[in-house]
Amino acid sequence: MTTKILMICLGNICRSPLAEGILQSKLPKDKYIVDSAGTGGWHAGELPDKRSISTAKKHNIDITNQRARQFKPSDFEKFDHIYAMDMSNYKNILNLAPNESVKSKVKIILNELFPDENVEVPDPYYGGQDGFENVYDMLNKACDVIANKLTN
Ligand code: 4NP
Repeated sequence: MTTKILMICLGNICRSPLAEGILQSKLPKDKYIVDSAGTGGWHAGELPDKRSISTAKKHNIDITNQRARQFKPSDFEKFDHIYAMDMSNYKNILNLAPNESVKSKVKIILNELFPDENVEVPDPYYGGQDGFENVYDMLNKACDVIANKLTN
């Protein structure tokens, strides 16, 4: 059986592509599928932001195979776990849920590190490269917890 995990942010070019690449690097490829999507569709079809690509590369992760896409309600059926980067993403996704039962699949990613605190992964789009490193560090720690939970 394959477990499917979806990472969600706003544009699917900065945070969730990093989250996808990081978690993928921590899981065996034959048993897990990791994908990402944005709540918005403005960047659909684009490569991740250059700053996300270079941050990932610095940590030996290649995310240039990724192309942005918008989240769609059928993702609720396809994926087992859906991680939102911030509260806005979380609320927007829940509003698209086709029924109550699938809502339990959606989590705020940093609650894996800081349970129930609803800490957000800050949007680094309008900042500099250091914001992307900060996002990488947060996501790397959260993905360690997620990978451990999934594989143990
Ligand atoms: P992301 O960052 O949600 O982490 O991909 C953003 C990327 C683009 C925009 C906003 C956030 N934008 O407004 O175009």
